[in-house]
Amino acid sequence: MHLVVPKETRSGEKRVAAAPATIAKLIKLGFEVTVESDAGLTALFTNENYQEAGAKVTTDISSAIKNADVVASVGTLPANLSPSLKSGAVCLSFAQAKRDKENIAAIAKAKATLLSFDFVPRISRAQSADALTSQATVSGYHTMVTAASLLPKMFPLVMTASGTIRPSKVLVIGAGVAGLQVMATAKKLGAIVSGYDVRTASKDEVKSVGATFIELDLPVVEGSGGYAKEMDQERTKLQQELLTPYITATDVLVTTAAVPGRPAPRLVTSAMLKGMKYGSVIADMAAENGGNVEGSVAGQIVDVNGVKIWGGQNIASAMAPDASFLFAGNVISLLSFIVKEGAIVIDKEDEVVKGSALVINGEITNEFVKTELGQG
Ligand code: NAI
Repeated sequence: MHLVVPKETRSGEKRVAAAPATIAKLIKLGFEVTVESDAGLTALFTNENYQEAGAKVTTDISSAIKNADVVASVGTLPANLSPSLKSGAVCLSFAQAKRDKENIAAIAKAKATLLSFDFVPRISRAQSADALTSQATVSGYHTMVTAASLLPKMFPLVMTASGTIRPSKVLVIGAGVAGLQVMATAKKLGAIVSGYDVRTASKDEVKSVGATFIELDLPVVEGSGGYAKEMDQERTKLQQELLTPYITATDVLVTTAAVPGRPAPRLVTSAMLKGMKYGSVIADMAAENGGNVEGSVAGQIVDVNGVKIWGGQNIASAMAPDASFLFAGNVISLLSFIVKEGAIVIDKEDEVVKGSALVINGEITNEFVKTELGQG
């Protein structure tokens, strides 16, 4: 079987879908691996690193794809490369119905199969294929160290003969995978950390990373599968009011709140910012998806009356070597669901395959994609 790893094309994308350290595992699964020349450079993996690990390196990506049984990439394979796919070839990547619809349609047209890391079911069997979790872990860490570097204040309590420096306060709203990593990192840096989330289970999770859980006098709103549900306007307003005293008291605010398939909930309005301390820092991890904070801009630092607002953009990519290594592990894990005794077998009844498949041999199998492409 041939597995091909193309160079990513999305602007600012530094990750790559295979790391030299993971090539041996792909070979063990039965693959001959071909990596596009310089595909790993932005993740600090050289062509020589891949060759030494047993992969081939090519400058002719469309010929490699013509021969591929599997194409693994971070972003959905670009539509200009899909016509080269063999019918029945399998693409593995992140892929969302709305954002990537042209690329998904091109894969379907080539009668290929697409498994998306955005749709891997969150069940324990599929945990090692959960790229949303691996990338959120890296993103949470990067966001915290970035926010810490923007604050001209030390994080830990420091007692010296010259005086005592009080620890910085960090507040994290949204205690999913990324939020918990933000809290754990802030805690390691020595800050006083508190966290808030709408889900009931989050109270224990926040405490488990050493942070204080903030309880608001609000009824719990929970969706299915342990995810949050979108709140109505009245409840959003009440949440904003109740959070304001905590926001004004903090040095760093990190927001990570997300609701699957919906724009990010608005947690912080411009009015709430007015009470924040001069020089305090906000990091909005949801900036790309509409923003938890009014005025945040993805990929930029905006100054609002002395408060710096950092808007995250493709955050995991900023730590491309580690993010790529973990993503490459997720690729191997997802492959283990479709490789049986050295051959590709797409078992439509397998919960992991069924959940993550957007297209199988040209047929669109995901309801969101069908709706986007007008086939619903
Ligand atoms: P996410 O990225 O979808 O959302 C981040 C957080 O924002 C969530 O914790 C959510 O409750 C919170 N949120 C939404 N609206 C909010 C609001 N208005 N105010 C405050 N917080 C708000 O979350 P993620 O990291 O994908 O986790 C979602 C769920 O999936 C969690 O229950 C998590 O434990 C679970 N999970 C399960 C896994 C597995 O079983 N393999 C792996 C990873 C996560």
